[in-house]
Amino acid sequence: MHFSLPTIAVLLFCGNVKSDLIYVASFSGNITTLSLTYDYFASTNPDSYYSLSVVDTFKTPPSLPAWITLNKHNNIIYLVDGVTTGNGTLTAYRTSSENGTSPPIQLDSVECLLDGAYAGFYANGKGLAVAHYISSALQTYDITASNGTMVPLETFTYTMSSPGPAGARQDAPHIHEARTDPLGQYLLAIDLGADKVRQYAIDMDSLLLDERPALNATPGSGPRHGVFTKDPILFPDGVSSYVFYLAAEIAGTITAYRVTYLPNRGGLQFDLLPNGTYSSLEPGTPKPYTGGKGITGELQVSPDGDFLIASNRRDKKFNGTATQYPPDGQSDSISTFRIRQDLAGKLDFVQSAPAGGYMPRTMNLNSAGNLAVVGIQEGNRVTVLERDLGSGLFKEQVAEVYVEGEIWGVLWDDYNDV
Ligand SMILES: *[C@@H]1O[C@H](CO)[C@@H](O)[C@H](O)[C@H]1NC(C)=O
Ligand SMILES: *[C@@H]1O[C@H](CO)[C@@H](O)[C@H](O)[C@H]1NC(C)=O
Ligand SMILES: *[C@@H]1O[C@H](CO)[C@@H](O)[C@H](O)[C@H]1NC(C)=O
Ligand SMILES: *[C@@H]1O[C@H](CO)[C@@H](O)[C@H](O)[C@H]1NC(C)=O
Ligand SMILES: *[C@@H]1O[C@H](CO)[C@@H](O)[C@H](O)[C@H]1NC(C)=O
Ligand SMILES: *[C@@H]1O[C@H](CO)[C@@H](O)[C@H](O)[C@H]1NC(C)=O
Repeated sequence: MHFSLPTIAVLLFCGNVKSDLIYVASFSGNITTLSLTYDYFASTNPDSYYSLSVVDTFKTPPSLPAWITLNKHNNIIYLVDGVTTGNGTLTAYRTSSENGTSPPIQLDSVECLLDGAYAGFYANGKGLAVAHYISSALQTYDITASNGTMVPLETFTYTMSSPGPAGARQDAPHIHEARTDPLGQYLLAIDLGADKVRQYAIDMDSLLLDERPALNATPGSGPRHGVFTKDPILFPDGVSSYVFYLAAEIAGTITAYRVTYLPNRGGLQFDLLPNGTYSSLEPGTPKPYTGGKGITGELQVSPDGDFLIASNRRDKKFNGTATQYPPDGQSDSISTFRIRQDLAGKLDFVQSAPAGGYMPRTMNLNSAGNLAVVGIQEGNRVTVLERDLGSGLFKEQVAEVYVEGEIWGVLWDDYNDV
């Protein structure tokens, strides 16, 4: 593929035009690099300013690239493989040059368990934990080496004595996400099959994990992704605590827990907040029939810490034209909630906005929080939505581009902003 070099060059020399790179992992087997150029000061008529184009696409070791993430400590991208037979691979890339004119350079690729779903960093970017869905496992790596070499550390494989309440979806443990707490002391492995958030204390020197008691989520809910508030919130008892929001895809809910750090690295205590379970859809919307397939997809806190944003799948809340929302003219929704700092992390629903198509599996905000890139899994499209930073509301879709293959991962790389 060729990049539109002259366009990029011209835009770069105009003072207030920005150019960001977006990486897309799709089931074509490729990573696709997109360039979004826009006028930094544009406040009106944004459609005339945004331009999203493919600058590069290249084959990767995985046949099914499923999750892509950037370690800001070493500027290395990690690509997780969703392959469901044999073994998977985990691949590390040096990011593109900031203008996207050279593709990411592959640094290392290692064999791992199959069906990777997510990779999260821990120990200040020195450790990498990969969640494996079908393999019912968590694998960890030492990624300290600046040349991108990944050294395998530990494999935790989980079992269940009997299936969970949600039928085939819960026939076995299924790890969907691995992420740290806000202070970086613990690694959480979110288990959709066992309705648990498994918890480990992190040894910052050895990067090894030591198990702590798990959070038991609502039986049959199918927890997928979780996020913490950006800062602790003052509770009525005068103590400030972080709040953890856990999205459960089978139930289509978000549940809020108060987080307490137990002494002596004893783990996090999660206390369910009163009336703390919310539909991830607009209140009053009936849950769509999905045959057990997932509803709630991605979950993010806005960079200002004031809003919780969830993508929903299969709710087909918005009707448009087939051109607008290929293939069938329907768009799923993205819900925005205000995180009430004055009401102990209560969520106030503020908006349901069209994602731009069917099955917004994945979503990533830019670091300013005024733009979101959304991966439309079954429409083979990537959309960019604009957000109002004050109200937290999505305004409108400002750009989109076709990318071959089901979209499973999107990553905004505005780390090296021009
Ligand atoms: C893009 O970046 C590379 C390396 O950073 C540089 O050599 C090249 O001149 C840049 N190209 C443009 C069009 O700015
Ligand atoms: C994937 O990238 C390769 C180049 O590495 C290219 O030849 C191929 O056409 C790409 N596939 C798709 C579906 O874009
Ligand atoms: C490759 O897959 C086999 C079978 O699941 C597994 O035993 C092995 O540990 C995997 N290799 C790695 C490096 O995880
Ligand atoms: C990468 O760096 C590590 C640690 O510094 C070193 O052990 C390893 O040999 C290097 N690998 C390559 C391929 O240069
Ligand atoms: C929880 O909801 C119930 C029923 O709507 C209500 O009576 C109760 O006051 C609520 N509790 C809190 C702490 O908001
Ligand atoms: C969208 O159109 C379909 C088919 O006409 C209809 O069944 C559905 O109720 C509409 N949905 C909305 C949200 O208006």
